[in-house]
Amino acid sequence: MIRAVVKGSGSALPRRAVSNEELAQQVDTSDEWIRERTGISNRYIAGDGETTSTLATAAARAALEAAGLDASEIELIIVATATPDRTFPSTATLVQRELGVAGCAAFDVGAVCSGFLYAIGTADAMIRSGMARSALVIGAETFSRILDWEDRATCVLFGDGAGALVLKAEDVAEDGPGILSTKLHADGAHNDLLYVDGGPSTTGTVGKLRMKGREVFRHAVVNLAEVLEEVLGATGYAASDLDWVVPHQANARILEATARKLGLAREKVIVTVDRHANTSAASVPLAFDVAVRDGRIKPGDLVMLEAMGGGFTWGASLLRM
Ligand code: UT7
Repeated sequence: MIRAVVKGSGSALPRRAVSNEELAQQVDTSDEWIRERTGISNRYIAGDGETTSTLATAAARAALEAAGLDASEIELIIVATATPDRTFPSTATLVQRELGVAGCAAFDVGAVCSGFLYAIGTADAMIRSGMARSALVIGAETFSRILDWEDRATCVLFGDGAGALVLKAEDVAEDGPGILSTKLHADGAHNDLLYVDGGPSTTGTVGKLRMKGREVFRHAVVNLAEVLEEVLGATGYAASDLDWVVPHQANARILEATARKLGLAREKVIVTVDRHANTSAASVPLAFDVAVRDGRIKPGDLVMLEAMGGGFTWGASLLRM
């Protein structure tokens, strides 16, 4: 059977790391509050010359190198982002230009923090249907540029970065590698709990991020547990079969609560929120790449990806390495 198989991963972070202590010099907050409520100690903030597309391109190059593929062999580029370089054209076409390739399909998907899951689901469907034989799937964000630095309840939570996976169509056995199942959901009734208060068609400005954190938190744990059960049910695996869970990195307490709900061992959950903070659509591929490069995620492992974000949108994807 034809499956989309992960051939390599890569990631990129801005040059500048910003600790909680440094942030507390400009914002009415403390290292203690941020660590206790979120698990975050550090984030990376884009500086001059660093944009969503430059981070995305760096992550893409690293993923291509890990996969041993040349950019010219890629037939599809999808970038998940809520912070594109420009309203249009897509960040995916900027990445394509930087990689020096032309002709392949390239577009962005917007599902905020679940964007990478939506991108993986789209790429997988296109690969299995024969529309593309290889894909670069990227999550990249510069949320620092849409934060209200006067709002301590949100500005301490986010960071910038990018992660990428290279997928390739392969004819594999039933128990072979590849993406096994992806489930995606949305509920637009909750638009006003996590949003940006501007846009091309309303204010003509970019706007700033607004969030009712406590309500988002409550929905996140319920929705994530449900979609994880749904993907396990669709594939016939139990939570105990998973080698790793790579969750969206919003808050260490959400990761713990979701793991507890599913009866998952804490050691199986990849956590990078402490060093990257919440990088929205970049957080899952960034965490994935960290765990591949430090040797935790290995060939043959069963890996669950999951995320929840503005919209609300949420999703999960199960793959074998
Ligand atoms: O990526 C998309 C999904 N996003 C999420 O999943 C985020 C989900 N939400 C959360 O992670 C948490 O709700 C937060 C981390 C955002 C907030 O934690 P919380 O425990 O829900 O705190 P809270 O918003 O209820 O605020 C508690 C207190 C308030 O003070 P009072 O009213 O109790 O006196 C806030 O004013 O903490 C205060 N506070 C702060 N204090 C110091 C809020 N932000 C800060 C801050 N530093 N940065």
